[in-house]
Amino acid sequence: MKKVLMVCLGNICRSPLAEGILKSKVDKNRIHVDSAGTAGWHSGNRPDERSIEVARLHQIDISSQKSRKFEIVDFDNFDYIFVMDQSNYQDVLALARDNNDEQKVHLILESSENTLEDVPDPYYGGDDGFEHVYQMLNEACENIKNKL
Ligand code: 4NP
Repeated sequence: MKKVLMVCLGNICRSPLAEGILKSKVDKNRIHVDSAGTAGWHSGNRPDERSIEVARLHQIDISSQKSRKFEIVDFDNFDYIFVMDQSNYQDVLALARDNNDEQKVHLILESSENTLEDVPDPYYGGDDGFEHVYQMLNEACENIKNKL
């Protein structure tokens, strides 16, 4: 069983979508997917309504996910940790205990065709930002699925 953790800041907009999209592409008996946020502000909350809606428009249900904070033990429990942006990258790397932990952390767009490295935070923007994020994450998750 390979284990993949998607990480953003609040774990209510981007990483819940990434979790839902990758889960929709893989065999759950072979690949475990979860998500977390570097900040615990929304712990216990379900995803942002705009993420739930954009996922629903693509036939993915993320409404029962619950936000949680990234923990150091996640380095032990996951093989791959995909972060959404440079800021998440720095925050997660700062918690790494050794080189083995560090090697697990990747920017989710690093193997995508587009030149952007960061998945933009759609929290303060309009609904179209969520569709844009969906498309970026869908491409990234297709690449991840093919590499796992
Ligand atoms: P996320 O988006 O990191 O994609 O879940 C955010 C959600 C909440 C906040 C910031 C970003 N916030 O400031 O509360």
